[in-house]
Amino acid sequence: MSQIVLGVGGGVAAYKSALLLRALTESGHDVRVVPTASALRFVGAATFEALSGNPVSTEVWDDVPEVAHVRIGQTADLVLVNPATADLLARAAAGRADDLLTATLLTAHCPVVFVPAMHTEMWQHPATQDNVATLRRRGAVVLPPAVGRLTGPDSGPGRLPEPADVAALAELVLSAGAGALAHDLSGRRVVISAGGTREPLDPVRFLGNRSSGLQGWALARVAAARGAEVVLVAANVELPAPFGVRVVAVESAEELRLGMHGESSGGETGRPADVVVMAAAVADFRPTTVAGSKLKKGGATEPSSLELVRNPDVLVELVGARPAGQLVVGFAAETGDAEGDVLTHARAKLARKGVDLLVVNDVSAGRVFGRSENEVTVLATDGTTTAVPAGRKDAVAAAIWDVVADRVARQP
Ligand code: CTP
Repeated sequence: MSQIVLGVGGGVAAYKSALLLRALTESGHDVRVVPTASALRFVGAATFEALSGNPVSTEVWDDVPEVAHVRIGQTADLVLVNPATADLLARAAAGRADDLLTATLLTAHCPVVFVPAMHTEMWQHPATQDNVATLRRRGAVVLPPAVGRLTGPDSGPGRLPEPADVAALAELVLSAGAGALAHDLSGRRVVISAGGTREPLDPVRFLGNRSSGLQGWALARVAAARGAEVVLVAANVELPAPFGVRVVAVESAEELRLGMHGESSGGETGRPADVVVMAAAVADFRPTTVAGSKLKKGGATEPSSLELVRNPDVLVELVGARPAGQLVVGFAAETGDAEGDVLTHARAKLARKGVDLLVVNDVSAGRVFGRSENEVTVLATDGTTTAVPAGRKDAVAAAIWDVVADRVARQP
């Protein structure tokens, strides 16, 4: 259980902080809500008190003998400001201490995460952008806002990310520190495949696999939070799109192949991807023929066996077609056998596929599939090996992006 301070700024998106608060307390955290006075014009203190089980105050004059403005910040494991308005970002960047929340920000030793929400013009204004840069330079995490419907008829960057995404990123910062959400993929275009392909047999049946898409989703969510422009080519994943991520839905290996080629070479933007990650479980084989109508028992079309044909290796194709400077990352699900252990097989695969990085999963004894925890080793062509300890898939994603960002930074 961690001590979290949930700062709430005075914007209409403050209502979503009640859902975030609920998600954090359900995960077992002790949350102290510190709203600004204007946040309480949108959501009543009673809501925050009931959901957190803790008192709510906005001013340093409340509860004076407790010296709350010092104690709350000192004892926190995480300060999460959701929503962070333009005014709150400005006061935080200026180091003001004119209410309990800004005073708490000045006394906190722990990671601080701002989740901005405001109108697009306010977000894009140079004053706000300077304040964001200042806060990031001092080590705070400032998430990029989501793009979408804002209050009123307008739409654009400035929307508050959904509570489930913010809660997942908060858990990541609690387990891995603020560095897990460094703003080091800003301006980079990232294309990620996720999920598992389905190869049709007839109009109702398919050959599929057990991939849940969770690791690909975590990679996308963390890359977007680190500033990248992210496209997820998703094969049969029933999860809501992570904030800031465009999802292209596909089913079969062939559809995934077309999606990945299109997006990695530029897609609608015309700008080739800086990083391509093949996290999807692509079927190696598909039925040689796909029946136009349902295969029936007993009839002349009843199959007695299934003939399969090899699918193209999308990863190898992407490596062959990549523009200069594009980093290609493969995944390998391996088990050890009589011919070698997991890493021996993985090193051979790294060379065979020609990728820059290979993320190796040990899938012996049913590990990984559908679970929120993962454990991987990242192999690079220069011989380096990075062991990523077992952790939530967001933490594994952050460790993979650390390796990628380090390499991308060396590209011109
Ligand atoms: N992959 C792909 N196209 C395929 C099969 C796999 O792009 N038709 C990609 C996966 O997305 C993953 C990597 O290749 O990034 C490794 O896949 P894996 O199935 O582990 O490797 P294979 O080449 O199938 O090797 P083997 O089955 O011999 O272990």
